[in-house]
Amino acid sequence: MFDGLGREIDYLRISVTPECDLRCYYCLPADLGETHSRLLKAEEIIRFVQVAAGLGVSRVRLTGGEPLLRADLEQIIAGIKSVPGIKEVSMTTNGQRFADRAHALRAAGLDRVNISLDTLQPDRYRRFTNGGDIAKVFAAISAAEHAGIVPIRLNAVVVRGVNDDELLDLANLTIGHPWDVRFIELMSIGEGRGWHDKVVSAKDIWNALGMPEEVAAKVGGGPARYYRLPGAQGKIGIISAVSEHFCGSCNRIRLTAQGTIRPCLLDDREIDIRPWLAEGAEPLLAQQLQTTILGKPSAQPQTPRARRRMAEIGG
Ligand code: 5AD
Ligand code: SF4
Repeated sequence: MFDGLGREIDYLRISVTPECDLRCYYCLPADLGETHSRLLKAEEIIRFVQVAAGLGVSRVRLTGGEPLLRADLEQIIAGIKSVPGIKEVSMTTNGQRFADRAHALRAAGLDRVNISLDTLQPDRYRRFTNGGDIAKVFAAISAAEHAGIVPIRLNAVVVRGVNDDELLDLANLTIGHPWDVRFIELMSIGEGRGWHDKVVSAKDIWNALGMPEEVAAKVGGGPARYYRLPGAQGKIGIISAVSEHFCGSCNRIRLTAQGTIRPCLLDDREIDIRPWLAEGAEPLLAQQLQTTILGKPSAQPQTPRARRRMAEIGG
């Protein structure tokens, strides 16, 4: 459906858990402890998607936290995939637990995967993530390829003085592999809140790669620009989440792990829809969702308000 400003909302991001097995330094504090949240049940998530699909949502991305911490992820994917109107189900993962489940995920209907990879150096990876194993990320990539979950996208959040010396190395992955490598501007959210001096702008990233920003093409309504190095198999993408507001073409809504709808990533106003997730309450949920989409903010607030962590919202 169209929102109050004529933007077509066809994309839904769902954080299926706020928990994560890693602690990327810009995302979660090392001593997060247990969050003890009541997660939405698989059937509640699927019911929500049924209602959202009825209002025109056709693509769904599962995020977290780390979605693979849920044992019922395949069940969730299969349920969503069988909803009429849903054309694509994708997920974002850190890849640590992906390889063993790749075939089951594909069989359940997973179409695409984004794997987070901020560095190519094993020691750095371990430090950045507080104990992660980069070998598992590469195992995840091969497993996804074998299972036919392609094309693969790798996401790197760029942080000044931390991994901005690896931009070319990461970009060069696209030459010999059919992978898209996407650089993401650090957002002021989660542990990275207030790290304004550590943001490397999209423009500076293109410059560091030796390319003027103008060569890159906008694709779709999303916040990314893409460019293919001469002869490369994959594309380089840069997501200017900070330097360029793309609110005018925003196509999405978010369901948080706590069961609230979040109409804007950077705005803390959320609608608790748990009461309407029960079986039989679909018409009320549809009404609520419709009202929420119609009232979606036109732009992010002047000062972004994001008390929540990225892992709860799902990026
Ligand atoms: N800025 C940009 N991206 C972030 N992510 C987490 N926190 C931030 C932030 N502050 C990204 C991760 C991963 C996805 C789950 O969200 O790197 O790709
Ligand atoms: Fe976990 Fe992703 Fe946050 Fe890293 S960025 S701690 S992998 S949710």
